[in-house]
Amino acid sequence: MTTWSLQTAPELSDLQFEQWNKLLEARTGIQVAPHQRSFLQIQLSRRMRELGIKHYAQYYGQVSSGVQGMVEWSVLVDRLVVKETSFFRHRDSIEFVRRFLQNRINNQSLSDSFEVWSLGCATGEEPYSLAMVINDCFELAGLDPYHGITATDISQPALQSAREGIYGKRKLEPIATDEQARYFKPCDGERESYQIVDKLRDRVCFSHGNVLSVAEMPMVKMDIIFCQNVLIYFRRWRRREILNELATRLKPGGILMIGLGEMVDWTHPNLQRVADERVQAYVYV
Ligand SMILES: C[S@@+](CC[C@H](N)C(=O)[O-])C[C@H]1O[C@@H](n2cnc3c(N)ncnc32)[C@H](O)[C@@H]1O
Repeated sequence: MTTWSLQTAPELSDLQFEQWNKLLEARTGIQVAPHQRSFLQIQLSRRMRELGIKHYAQYYGQVSSGVQGMVEWSVLVDRLVVKETSFFRHRDSIEFVRRFLQNRINNQSLSDSFEVWSLGCATGEEPYSLAMVINDCFELAGLDPYHGITATDISQPALQSAREGIYGKRKLEPIATDEQARYFKPCDGERESYQIVDKLRDRVCFSHGNVLSVAEMPMVKMDIIFCQNVLIYFRRWRRREILNELATRLKPGGILMIGLGEMVDWTHPNLQRVADERVQAYVYV
């Protein structure tokens, strides 16, 4: 006799694939390409198995209705998003932020605060990389103005892990040894695990946020908005809408930084592309 746990995943029909894809895109902006259909099927059926649900239609009904549905949705969405990230993932972009801040310090053009926003921050490597270079700049200059990083993501488990800021030794490889020593401490009792030091963790505020709802997010104006490897999963018109909204969240002179090549033909009346081909950055003029 076969039990549910031993059965193979039921096939997603064309109609079901379309239905789930539509729901995912409406709620997150992410599109699952036809060649990733088996990924969607595996993740759905794995979760259904955990819940003892046998039919996609029944599970669809569960995630699309009521408060319980929203709770289940937040579990599922974490399984469907790509959370791949690393420290200093696109080093040129992070180093651009270092130069930008150093220039402001040298020109004495800092405003009262220095505010940074990392959207789609995953498990925290991106905002912590930014926190390291910002701390380097202020420490070197002997300054300590108000500064902070807001880091948002749609995945609650990713945010939880980001708040803890604990990483295995291999994750630290892109970080220079002296920076590892300054910004990480070994975890008690856990071999080969390191935690971001408190003074950096205290600078980063992680919170749940969907990039589709940027317009409703009550944010202060930003000096730097960093949004990399998130919009690539979205349709072009949606990327454009989100970028237009992000542009309104910049301080004059602030920078919007996206992944190189993530949006090729986008322009905005208040933004000017920075003349540095190593990065895709726009300054609010
Ligand atoms: C590939 S990771 C990129 C992480 C980091 N920005 C980097 O470049 O290394 C994409 C992240 O975007 C998040 N994400 C996807 N759709 C989102 C949405 N609609 N709102 C907020 N975050 C989203 C995912 O949860 C994931 O953590």
